[in-house]
This record gives sequence, structure tokens and C-alpha cells, in this order.
Amino acid sequence: MDRSNQVSFSVPQRVLHWATALLVFFNLLLPDGMEQWRRAMRQTGSATPEQVSSANIHAYVGIAILALVALRLILRFTQGVPPDPTREPAIFRLAAKIAHFGLYALLIGMPLTGIGAYYFGNGTAGDIHADVLKVVMWVLIAGHVGGALVHQFYWKTNVLRRMTVG
Ligand code: HEM
Ligand code: HEM
Repeated sequence: MDRSNQVSFSVPQRVLHWATALLVFFNLLLPDGMEQWRRAMRQTGSATPEQVSSANIHAYVGIAILALVALRLILRFTQGVPPDPTREPAIFRLAAKIAHFGLYALLIGMPLTGIGAYYFGNGTAGDIHADVLKVVMWVLIAGHVGGALVHQFYWKTNVLRRMTVG
């Protein structure tokens, strides 16, 4: 379905956006189980079953994010998205496009580098995951949420509405 003349994201697109946001914040804010597993592996070469269980939560949440983003991209290509809000200057429309593209890239890159580190013992992937992509993700999310707030309160456009109640 072409959404170029629709005002909102479809209900499945909205549900997927907020489910993904929740899972991303969980993994960004509570990676302690995974970090304890990594410390134990570095120091002793093995981890207790409890440490493996809590690390697995981080891994499964991250793999769920990868599955949800695949579904989201399929919906994006089949259903389309509403047109850009027209009240913002062109430069900000471009910034939003780049940020959204970057967020999608991170929603794929974060899980893939995590899988490389956790299941294949690739230290470089772990460093990219924990030191580089994590920081880029925080920066993009801050810009993304900031942009949404500027829309809501400065340009007074309906972007928050079209990703929430529709
Ligand atoms: C979007 C999904 C994900 C997010 C937002 C995320 C976030 C994080 C964060 C914040 C850390 C702690 C970094 C630090 O400050 O040291 C971390 C570490 C780690 N995560 Fe993830 N993660 C995700 C997916 C995954 C997946 C799917 C796996 C594995 C299957 C994974 C495996 C790891 C490992 C092994 C570490 C320790 C890396 C190291 O320090 O060498 N992550 N992750
Ligand atoms: C409180 C947090 C958040 C708010 C208020 C928010 C708000 C929004 C809004 C209003 C849109 C629609 C933009 C438009 O109409 O063009 C949107 C789109 C999007 N959001 Fe968020 N978001 C949040 C968190 C996140 C997080 C954590 C991620 C991923 C890491 C994310 C990824 C995306 C992506 C990729 C799009 C583009 C959708 C598309 O056009 O296909 N958001 N967000």
C-alpha cells in the first residue's frame, strides 16, 4: 500500500517502532550481565552458568531487535511511509533522513557485531560494538528525540502523533 498521501505510520509500524525503542533502551542501559560475562571470560577463560544466563538475556534481546528491524524494513518497502513534514526547513529534513538511515544501520550493525563478539569470540567486533557503535547510537538517539521535541513544540507539526496515536 502506498502511504504517500497518508498522515500516519501504519499500526504495525508504530508498534514495531516502540517495541524496538524499548528493547534498545534495555540493552543500552542494562548491559551489566553481558559485561560481567565478558570480564569473567577475559580473566578466567570461563563463566558460571548464572553469568551465561544473564549474558544470554542481552544477546536474545539484541537478536529480537534484529528480527524486528527486518520486519520493519519489509513493511517500509511494502507499505511506504507518510511524506516528510513540510513545515521544517529542507536542511532538517535531510538531517532527519540521515539520522533515520543511521538508526536503521545501527539496529542491524549493533546485533551483528554483538553476535561476532559473543558467539564467534571476535574481539574487534566486540570493541566496535561496545566502544564505537554504542556511542554513535546514543548520539543519534539524542538527536532523534531532540528532533521529535523540536517538531512538537517549535514547528508544532504532527510527527509525534503519527508515530503514536496516528
Ligand atoms: C541493538 C542491540 C544491542 C545493543 C543496543 C547493545 C548494547 C550494548 C552495550 C551498551 C554494551 C556495553 C558496552 C560497554 O559500555 O562496555 C554491550 C556489550 C556487549 N554486547 Fe551488546 N547490544 C546489542 C546487541 C547485542 C547482541 C545481539 C549480542 C550478542 C549476541 C551482544 C553482545 C555483546 C557483548 C559480547 C558485549 C561485550 C563486548 C565487549 O566489551 O567486548 N550485544 N552491548
Ligand atoms: C523516546 C524515544 C523516541 C521518540 C520520541 C521517537 C519518535 C519518533 C517519531 C515521532 C518518528 C516519526 C518520524 C516521522 O514522522 O518522519 C520516529 C521515527 C523513527 N524512529 Fe524513533 N523515537 C524514539 C526512539 C527511537 C529509538 C530508540 C530508535 C532506534 C534506535 C528509533 C528509530 C526510529 C527510526 C529508524 C525512525 C524512522 C521510521 C521510518 O521512517 O521508517 N526511535 N521516531
